[in-house]
Amino acid sequence: MTIEADQAEGLVSLERGELDRTIFSDPEIFERELTTIFARSWLFLCHESQIKKKGDFFEAAMGRDNVLVVRQRDGSIKGLLNTCAHRGNAVCRAEEGNAKNFMCTYHGWTYDLSGELVGVPGLEELYHNQMPAAGLKQVAQLDTYRGFVFATMDAHAPPLAEFLGRTGRVSLDFIAAQGDMEVVPGIQKFIVPCNWKFAVDNLFDWYHPQITHLSAFQTGLLPATPDATGATMKTAGVLSPDGDDMQFPGGVVSGDAGDQLVFVDVYGHAISGPTVEAIGDFGGMIDHSWRNRPEAIEQLGSMALRSFGHANIFPTCWITPPFNQLSLRIPRGPMETEIWWFTFVHKDASPEQRAAAVSGAIHAFGPAGFLEQEDGENWAQSTLQTRGASSKLIPQVLSMNLGRGRVVNDQDGIDPPYIECSINEHAQLWTFVAWQEWLRDSSWSELRDRTVPPEVL
Ligand code: FES
Ligand SMILES: [Fe+2]
Repeated sequence: MTIEADQAEGLVSLERGELDRTIFSDPEIFERELTTIFARSWLFLCHESQIKKKGDFFEAAMGRDNVLVVRQRDGSIKGLLNTCAHRGNAVCRAEEGNAKNFMCTYHGWTYDLSGELVGVPGLEELYHNQMPAAGLKQVAQLDTYRGFVFATMDAHAPPLAEFLGRTGRVSLDFIAAQGDMEVVPGIQKFIVPCNWKFAVDNLFDWYHPQITHLSAFQTGLLPATPDATGATMKTAGVLSPDGDDMQFPGGVVSGDAGDQLVFVDVYGHAISGPTVEAIGDFGGMIDHSWRNRPEAIEQLGSMALRSFGHANIFPTCWITPPFNQLSLRIPRGPMETEIWWFTFVHKDASPEQRAAAVSGAIHAFGPAGFLEQEDGENWAQSTLQTRGASSKLIPQVLSMNLGRGRVVNDQDGIDPPYIECSINEHAQLWTFVAWQEWLRDSSWSELRDRTVPPEVL
């Protein structure tokens, strides 16, 4: 049995700031997400810097579909499903590389870079010189925005730039506006036993670092000093090794309205986090100087330029501009999520700068990262507790500062819709409100119209 559209109603309450917990482990909901969200939405595949030369390829994930993103002989890019037209075997076992063609290891059917079937063992004797009318299936649409390659399996999806909206485009501009950026070779990949939506919810969560990441801060990995951030509220009961109250950059529990900026936009895209002024330079770790580039000022707009927030291009593309990283939360099962990390550096970065970027990437997030180890434990436990007969009846609470966020729509159309406020859960709630619309399998126009932000969140 699969759930129907009307059963996708009532799982999220914008009014109460509550969710039905079962959405985090119900296998029927998970299967429906694969078709109504991951088979329709534009999804990030890779960056053009990863496939510079003809024959370069990178294997991306679109839900459970594996897609080979391949640089063609004419310089264009194609997205080919990595499944043989004969019996379905994967035609490429490498995660990235360079190829002249793709030969299936089962019976040897061979495809050229464009996915056309060009070789069949025994063509003359067994197929009587009739080449089977088969090739590698392609994604429905593929496009790029400033070097970021996206694709959708839905031929009726709106163009990429329209789908991204201003918030999605600004999210990518956070990296692109820094200059000629490229991906550091080697994508970090690992699996967390949690539902993908917990991992997405958490990227907007500026409430948890002070507790969850206490041990990471105590190691000195990240600075936690009273004057590093301009944080405005101390964290009662949490003491530094010296016995003083500690304050946490990034986990700023601030009572001051205006310390946080939240952008909420069509299709569920959002950016949320402290302002640059509130966060400071993260104890000297963050270089904000790129924000003074004329291109950055022009491309981001005044409000986005002030944001130190984390961005999510719905459903699962997280851009974390402070560290120039992009992460995907790939759904593998109701209780299994694969996390991928792409790290960007400037094309002209020195070896020392590259090494620093890699070191930062390894120590913060990813399989060896302090922060994501601590986060992953919470997501796994939170997912498990959505299955108990009694536990699953308890609603999930996202009501922090609910109803206190007034959405500003910039009349000039330069800044994305935004809220200036104190710490909140608006971006998470907005993500789930949009998620419910996707789950209903609304038409593209319905989906867009119903995810225009309301006046108040
Ligand atoms: S499955 Fe690929 S050649 Fe048979
Ligand atoms: Fe975290």
